[in-house]
Amino acid sequence: HQAKAEQLLRDAGILPVVTVDGVEQARRLADALLEGGLRSIELTLRTPVALEALAALKRDMPDIIVGAGTVLTSEQMRQAIDAGADFLVTPGTPPSLADALEQAQVPVVPGAATPTEFLALMTRGFHACKLFPATAVGGLAMIRGLDGPLADLVLCPTGGISENNAADFLAQPNVACVGGSWMVPRPWLAAGEWDKVRAASRRAAAIVADARA
Ligand code: 3PG
Repeated sequence: HQAKAEQLLRDAGILPVVTVDGVEQARRLADALLEGGLRSIELTLRTPVALEALAALKRDMPDIIVGAGTVLTSEQMRQAIDAGADFLVTPGTPPSLADALEQAQVPVVPGAATPTEFLALMTRGFHACKLFPATAVGGLAMIRGLDGPLADLVLCPTGGISENNAADFLAQPNVACVGGSWMVPRPWLAAGEWDKVRAASRRAAAIVADARA
């Protein structure tokens, strides 16, 4: 599953981190992201409707790849898998959660923020990890620093990244994908500003295409 986690990140390039307040909102949002050219999303388990929204997207929108984000406990892990999550993302990964994630039957992108934490995850077989909160813990300088000693680590930096600097992160050899909520801010979702989501997604997809050209 871990080779698959890296592939998922590479295929995505930019991973929208989405927090939804309703199932219909999630559908409209997923439509706008798809139309903009982004087909993978990290749907955070931060709202009561999140699991229901995840299940609805999996049922109704076969073209979208939906991971569960903000997985904090083994119970949330099981709920997310039951809801059909294509992959799991955590913001941080204490040993008890890592124990559970090792048993997950879907790809996992565990979060960490220090060399010691990444090493612990790599020892367990996780080598595609989320660097969170990426800009707060050093951003590009941190990512370059990790590239020497932890050569097998592949990162999805997330937290504080925007369309203004996403390309700089994607240009790093140890970065497979960049995560962020900049193309799906909650006020836009609440106001039904799908044109803005579509346009920001299109710009994000173009950043990925440029990075890979
Ligand atoms: C996450 O859960 O990964 C973050 O909320 C996303 O970070 P951002 O909102 O700073 O992009």
